[in-house]
This record gives sequence, structure tokens and C-alpha cells, in this order.
Amino acid sequence: MTDQNVLLARAARVLPGGLLGSHRSGPGLEFVVREGRGAYLYDMNGRRYLDYLLGSGPMLLGHAHPAVVDAVQRQMARGTSYFIVNEPAIRLAEEIVAAVPCAEQVRYTASGSEATFFALRVARAYRKRDKIMKFEGGFHGTHDYVLMSVVPRSPKAFPAPMADSAGIPHVIDGEVLIAPYNDGVPLVFDEIVTGFRFAYGGAQEFYKVVPDLAAFGKVVAGGFPLACIAGPTAIMRHFDAALDGTPDYVWQAGTFNGNAIAAAAGLATLAELRKPGTYERLFQTGARLKAGLQAAVTKHGVAAQVSGEPPVFDLFFTDRPIVDYRATLTADRAKITRFNQELLRRGVVKAVNKIYVSLAHSDTDVAETLAIFDEVLATLARS
Ligand SMILES: Cc1ncc(COP(=O)(O)O)c(C=O)c1O
Repeated sequence: MTDQNVLLARAARVLPGGLLGSHRSGPGLEFVVREGRGAYLYDMNGRRYLDYLLGSGPMLLGHAHPAVVDAVQRQMARGTSYFIVNEPAIRLAEEIVAAVPCAEQVRYTASGSEATFFALRVARAYRKRDKIMKFEGGFHGTHDYVLMSVVPRSPKAFPAPMADSAGIPHVIDGEVLIAPYNDGVPLVFDEIVTGFRFAYGGAQEFYKVVPDLAAFGKVVAGGFPLACIAGPTAIMRHFDAALDGTPDYVWQAGTFNGNAIAAAAGLATLAELRKPGTYERLFQTGARLKAGLQAAVTKHGVAAQVSGEPPVFDLFFTDRPIVDYRATLTADRAKITRFNQELLRRGVVKAVNKIYVSLAHSDTDVAETLAIFDEVLATLARS
């Protein structure tokens, strides 16, 4: 087996920062994933980590779930990607339409960022208006229209946007309006994290608010690169290639869209999620983790807020209740970095700003995690 340090050095040469994206472990804590199984990741040295990053969310069933592996292997033998409509893609779309309140039709993309990008394009085509409004602090992927005011380091007055990346043309500033989170009515729901995680019908089922359009990704494809836009036919018809040549046509296509492997993995994942008691179990696991984390915060007298719903939540080191985005800006960023690194040191992986819960996390895993939360908060309280 290749030595982990050698692999890390090779990664540093050929990948910017030695990373795949923005997820960083911290100095001395870097590792290379050898495999993921259930609720665990294993590094090249065979060290086991309890995984609350879950591939940035999609692995709701845990890694290498037998039903998903089996569905993918069966589909693999029949080819991977056709660029032509196929049975798994049709069946997955039917399942999304049946599950999601706002969905009458589905258009596939390969990533969540593309799904939000095209949701905005089709919304513009439908409304015949250019400007979009997004909420401050909301992350909806990495394209130019949404990587705005996600991290407003010294926030501007509403509704002025602030680009969060170099390379975004200044002209886009004129097309994006920023509104305070928790105030306003959105047209498009980004359900890339919440879809099939908060409920089988997503956040729109959980919160009982039906949007005009929604973007799904992550869980819907069980760990494969597939995402989609879902909405009523009146809006979705703009994607219909029969409109080509008319001012109503929205051109949207991608090599891997609706590929059969990802659709098969999604169908197998959704079949598991439809089993009775699934969401009750997910919410129980998440609620125990949240309650245990809150108990440790209280026990060690740390000024911090546990915020989010049981299937995905996090800790904010602030004494302000997390009621809107600007409240999150009062949180101590150095402390959350330290919290994440102290967890990793003890074998718990999480996203930079999220604890994703899976159905593979057992009672024993929860107990082990809570003991580690307690230990880490005791350490932070002392320093
Ligand atoms: C809420 C939300 N929207 C969109 C995206 C972008 O999805 P992708 O990473 O598949 O492009 C993410 C990714 O984390 C997300 O959390």
C-alpha cells in the first residue's frame, strides 16, 4: 500500500493546495481516504474516523450501502452514460415528482451548482426578468450568480451584493439583490442539502411551504454526480427542445445528465428511504447528537449555540441566538476551526460548518461521538 505521507506529498504537487475543494483537515491532521464503509472512513494507515461529513451530505445511508452497490453494479454491466433518456432516469424522475410537492417535471444536471444555475435561468425565462434575489449567507453552489454575500466579511447595506470569489465579473453585481435571511418570500428553494434529508418530500414537506421551483442534489443520487431542477410544467416547459429557435427556449444540456448509474444509485437510495420508520430513526439519531452536544456546551459553560434540524446541524461559538445570518457572523471562527480539529484528532470528521447525520450511525457511534464532544468542549473551556 502507498504510504499516506507520500500520497499527501503527491497530492500537494498536482492538486491546488493538495485538496479537491475547500475542505481542509488542518495542519498535521491531513489524511487520504482509503475507503468508506457505513458510518466510517478509513485512511491509508487503516485509522477509522466517525464520518459526519458524509461526502458533503449525499451519503445519507452511509458509505457503500449494499443496496446502492448492488444497483450500481447491475446497471454498470449495461453501460454508464448514454446522453439519451433511459429507464433509470425516467423512474427516478417519477419518484421525485411523486415525493416533492412543487415537482411536476424534472430536468437533470450533474451537480448542485448547475441545478441552481439553471433554476435561475429558467426562472428568468419564465418571468422575463433578469434580476435575482438571494438571501445573505445562503450557499447555493459556486457559480457567479450565487457566490454572492455568502461570506460578507464587512457586510454592505442591503440589497448590494458582494462577490465571494476572484474571477466573478463585476457586471453580475448589477443582476443580484441581497435580502436578509428570514425575511422575504423565495421563488426557488435550494433543496440540495435538505432534499430527501429533512423528509422524503424535502424541506418543502417538512416546513409545509411549497416553492415555485426547487433544486435537488446530494442524497437524490446516493453519492453519484446527479442533481436536478424540479417544478411545475408551466416553468419547466422552457427546457423543452421543441421550443428551440423561440425566445422562450432555455438551453440546458450536459454530457452526464440523467446518466443511468447515478439514477440507479438514486433509485436504490430512495427505496431505502421509503422504508417505514426511516426518518423517525434519522431524526432520533440527530436529536440525540444535538441534545448531547447541547448538554456538553451547558456542562462546560461554553458560550455556544447548537443550531439546525436533527439531520444536519452545527455549533456556533456565540452567545447570540442564531435567528438570522448576521447572528452567525458573531460566532468565533477560530474556535469552530479548533473544535473541528480537536474532533478530527479524536477520529471524528465533520464538514467545516455542518454535522451531517446518516442512517448508518448506530447508538454506539452516537455514544462514542458524545463522549468526544464532551472531551473536546472540556478542552476548549479550559483554553
Ligand atoms: C445548499 C447547497 N446548494 C448548492 C450546493 C452545490 O452543490 P454541488 O456541490 O453539487 O455543486 C451545495 C453544496 O454543498 C449546497 O450545500
